[in-house]
Amino acid sequence: MKGIILAGGSATRLYPVTLAVSKQMLPVYDKPMIYYPLSTLMMAGIKEVLIISTPVHIGAFEALLGDGSKLGMKFEYKIQEKPVGLADAFILGADFIGNDNVALILGDNMIYGSRIERVLKAASKLKEGGIIFGYQVADPTSYGVVEIDKKGKAISIEEKPAEPKSHLAVPGIYFYDNDVVKIAKTIKPSERGELEITDVNKAYMKKGKLQVIPLGSGYAWFDTGTPDRLGDASDFVKAIQLRQGVQIGCLEEIAYRNEWISKDALLEEAKKYKKTEYGKYLKKVADQDFKQYKEVFESELFN
Ligand code: G1P
Repeated sequence: MKGIILAGGSATRLYPVTLAVSKQMLPVYDKPMIYYPLSTLMMAGIKEVLIISTPVHIGAFEALLGDGSKLGMKFEYKIQEKPVGLADAFILGADFIGNDNVALILGDNMIYGSRIERVLKAASKLKEGGIIFGYQVADPTSYGVVEIDKKGKAISIEEKPAEPKSHLAVPGIYFYDNDVVKIAKTIKPSERGELEITDVNKAYMKKGKLQVIPLGSGYAWFDTGTPDRLGDASDFVKAIQLRQGVQIGCLEEIAYRNEWISKDALLEEAKKYKKTEYGKYLKKVADQDFKQYKEVFESELFN
């Protein structure tokens, strides 16, 4: 499976902060925002990633992340001339996707939870159809909203409904089979002039091929579209990291634990950041016998 991060848009709800800087470059506590969605794809085991951004900002992402080789990954970049909607990612990414299945994650979405890696890995093994998630929020009116039956099957899905049929918002991470490229090409712009991901999901739902995985209270999902939500996400990362002494969204750590980079490569990265807590943490990870920890964390005790 391949991965796409959509890091475009004009982020007008964060003006004036985003007048000259890409939203997905802003810090969420101690890392650029895009680290978090990228780490999510990595936890799903996805090594090939296309990063889509605006003509103005794409260069900054390339400067930040390079070709991915430092993480044992492969990154490509694509310009989205205008923010015409999320489904456009599959049209722009058609060559990159080729005959593969694909996961799309929005550059401003952050998911955290003790079992998330398992859930993501399972989703990335999808054979047919689409997989989306459902996350309960108090006010779902600014999201895609999915209604499910008792067996967890999607029975309706609407984009930003004024009167939502459920409290299950759809987070900005989606897994699809290769049909998504064809489906995206048939979508017509919505009233707000965008190719809606919700219309892609509706197409899968109509074929009975849309699976919804509800993420319960053991998960945190943030989108970082407004100053308050951006602050909440930062506070959350800070609280967990300082309390537990673990990093959220630490790319080098995940690459190392996935066995995509060697211990030497990890130590090399640690040196680069040696003046920061991030660098000290990387060194700590390299010094640990993580396989021992991995067994404990993956045991029934924790799951
Ligand atoms: C987009 C999607 C919406 C989804 C949300 C998640 O909304 O259209 O269905 O719930 O991302 O962040 P937008 O960011 O375009 O308002």
